[in-house]
Amino acid sequence: MPIDNTQSDENYLEVKDLIKWFGDDPAVDGISFKIAKGDFLTLLGPSGCGKTTTLMSIAGLHSIDGGSIRVGDAMFTDPESGIFMAPENRDIGMVFQSYAIWPHMSVTKNVAYPLEIQKIPKDEINDRVADVLELVGLTDMADKMATQLSGGQQQRAALARAIVAKPRLLLFDEPLSNLDLKLREQMRVELKRIQNEVGITSIYVTHDQAEALVMSDDIIVMSKGHIEQMGSPVDIYSKPVNSYVSNFIGVANLLEGNVKKANTSGGEADVEVNVAGEPITLKCQLGAGLKQGDDTVLSVRPENVHAVREPDGAAPVPGEVTSAIFLGNYVDCRVAWGDFEWKVIAHPRMGLKEGEKVYLQFESEHMLAVQP
Ligand SMILES: Nc1ncnc2c1ncn2[C@@H]1O[C@H](COP(=O)(O)OP(=O)(O)OP(=O)(O)O)[C@@H](O)[C@H]1O
Ligand SMILES: [Mg+2]
Repeated sequence: MPIDNTQSDENYLEVKDLIKWFGDDPAVDGISFKIAKGDFLTLLGPSGCGKTTTLMSIAGLHSIDGGSIRVGDAMFTDPESGIFMAPENRDIGMVFQSYAIWPHMSVTKNVAYPLEIQKIPKDEINDRVADVLELVGLTDMADKMATQLSGGQQQRAALARAIVAKPRLLLFDEPLSNLDLKLREQMRVELKRIQNEVGITSIYVTHDQAEALVMSDDIIVMSKGHIEQMGSPVDIYSKPVNSYVSNFIGVANLLEGNVKKANTSGGEADVEVNVAGEPITLKCQLGAGLKQGDDTVLSVRPENVHAVREPDGAAPVPGEVTSAIFLGNYVDCRVAWGDFEWKVIAHPRMGLKEGEKVYLQFESEHMLAVQP
């Protein structure tokens, strides 16, 4: 008998061809993805790209116009088959940007609520609430009213309430964006640790790329209702498929060029770029979907370009340091190369100064030709 693999732990959550329109515009325009049980997936993208709409579709807080959403063996939504599971039956925990805990209740009462509506025995509720408050570091605040908590503590309480009933899925919509930077950085790590410990499959929405890189097993980069790329943080950073993704995650030098020579199987390629009207050939790695003759964008991270004072054979074009900002463990430089300005990271010991002439050396294995 063939093995039905569609509902295995590997394909725990599946969103297929999801479409959602608001008026005449598609907010989400046919996105598909799968994640494994226990994974932490982040939807990353600029304002208005459809992150919240995707999350709300999964939560069942609105209908969808096409596609389907399944979690485990539960079909949440499939309009073609007339299926729409009510949100309260989806067994989902949610944490939002605004602190959605009830101000007139104590922390304990807030966290106990999801268990009380399930009519769980009082003793068990007490034990589980105590456990989860310890997990989020709020044991000492158990009897305080929600209004007596700081922003960070309120989000911990909201998280405790979201996980106490062990839902099949956790959804987060920018839960840290109201916190100040320092607390946000600390809470990222905390939240990820807690998610790891409870092992609940999670989808996290943010437009903060650092947050996505720190927390996620997988990241989906979205734009205008589409998925641009899905992959691990390392993949998204080091192998972006196009200039949009490259630009959105981290810092990148992006140079327009043309693929002059390439193997059909990918791998190494020669890309021609123009420097002050002169064509220059650079060796690089050919990204997916590109072939000889195609227009391309060279994506090069600043840590993979090196400024040197002595030219060698591989650095024929001199540049000029237009700025060199000392940042402690590195120097953030700009190097003008014709009309292109490179972002370059230099070692402080080099003592590069503004106005100096330098040559650029490239690590061809870290130069990526991507789709424009
Ligand atoms: N209830 C609604 N009615 C009409 N249009 C909506 C509604 N909700 C979202 N939209 C539109 O759908 C698109 C996607 O919105 P969505 O809220 O999903 O974006 P987002 O990625 O979450 O953005 P942000 O980072 O600003 O929260 C936007 O163009 C938005 O204006
Ligand atoms: Mg949103």
